[in-house]
Amino acid sequence: MNYTPIASTTDLTGELTTVCGWVHSVRDMGKMAFIDLRDHTGLLQVVVASDELPRLGVEWVVAVTGEVKARGERFVNPKLTTGTVELKASKIEVINSAAELPIEIKKDTSAINEDTRLRYRYLDLRSERMQANLRLRHRVMQFVRNFLSNADFIEIETPMLTKGTPEGAREYLVPSRLHPGEFFVLPQSPQQFKQLLMVAGFGRYFQLAKAMRDEDQRGDRQPEFTQIDLELSFVDQEEILRINEAMMIELVEQLMPEHRITGIPFPRLTYAEAMEKYGSDKPDLRVDKSDDKELAFTWILDFPMFETGKDGIAAVHHPFTSPHPEDAAKLSSEPLSVRAQAYDLALNGFEMGSGSIRIADAKLQRQVFEILGMEEDEITTRFGHMLEAFRFGTPPHGGFAYGFDRLVMVLAGEPNIREVIAFPKTGDARDPLMGAPSPVAEDKLADVHITSIEE
Ligand code: AMO
Repeated sequence: MNYTPIASTTDLTGELTTVCGWVHSVRDMGKMAFIDLRDHTGLLQVVVASDELPRLGVEWVVAVTGEVKARGERFVNPKLTTGTVELKASKIEVINSAAELPIEIKKDTSAINEDTRLRYRYLDLRSERMQANLRLRHRVMQFVRNFLSNADFIEIETPMLTKGTPEGAREYLVPSRLHPGEFFVLPQSPQQFKQLLMVAGFGRYFQLAKAMRDEDQRGDRQPEFTQIDLELSFVDQEEILRINEAMMIELVEQLMPEHRITGIPFPRLTYAEAMEKYGSDKPDLRVDKSDDKELAFTWILDFPMFETGKDGIAAVHHPFTSPHPEDAAKLSSEPLSVRAQAYDLALNGFEMGSGSIRIADAKLQRQVFEILGMEEDEITTRFGHMLEAFRFGTPPHGGFAYGFDRLVMVLAGEPNIREVIAFPKTGDARDPLMGAPSPVAEDKLADVHITSIEE
């Protein structure tokens, strides 16, 4: 179909053209009728003689052909990007009618019940705010891809069907049909693969990576989310902070010029200082905490390496994190007092990302697994491949991962990551649109060697 995007009509005064879209509103004044027509680029006023107006309803899909006319000065509508013109229709073709919508999409939809919004997400997404949020998400994604590609990183996809990697959450399991009783694990992050890509000699990797974590939901957590994941070889902590800080500053300058960053260079606090001063490892350092155009990035450094978990000693970041060089000697004697070369980036009270310098030495890695209480058998079955890889010439390496959805959420001034994800799950981890999760027929379960237990 040959059509003009609505936003481009402003350049076509005097020309005959066709626009396609949804009927946003219709007003029949008796002699003349006005249609606000909406497409993915904006709204346009269409004018037609009332006696030529076909039967039309809100959200019907139409193609309108007509002449683009400049509006008289008095009639310019500054609220519309196309407010200087209108289309004088000579032909209105109804392509599809629309049933009455279950939700009102002309207003901000955030107050509508979540289950209904997500069940009709394709309608919710028609609303102006949701369109803007997803377009912003796209722009941030493009910016990150360009920035990192220009800084010599390459994007490499890593598997979804894999083996667990410890990031502190429960994992989603996928039964294997070909290998009865065995399971793939959906990745909580590409952590092990990105380290193996450093062993493989790629030097600088990034990925807009899907990550899956079966954990209790909060406004800044989804079971399935996106990370900006990166890893570099022959790097120290300072260089990783520098690159990330430069990326965030340029992102804000280029995409969000109406926003202000509170402190450049980003302030740095050690974990101990942050806890002592603010009682949080993600303090909100905005001058005005109610101003969502203010962006207060803060580095939190020197996290502890270990903590006491319910089953003994646990890694605070993950077990691939290397100890702080000043504390390495205390690893076996006082592990709980060892600081790690691990850092977070906090933004306006959210943990925006975290990373660490990794262990690149098989002996030290084994020692850390042992401190975490793993027996030889467990080390071999869970992480033998990493220890093996480290034997074949491993560069020193480190990296970082942002919660991409969280970043877009803060930039969009939204309170919840669901507002910046096209098809998110509800607060209780369901998808009301597709009806997932859902029961599976017995024969499908038998295919993957699973029997269900009645609870
Ligand atoms: P971490 O587990 O801290 O580190 O995750 C990195 C960032 O991902 C975001 N995040 C989430 N976002 C939405 N929903 C969730 N359920 C969720 N969980 C985490 C946070 C967090 O800071 N592999 C390491 C990174 C590394 O060491 O390079 C990792 O995944 O913003």
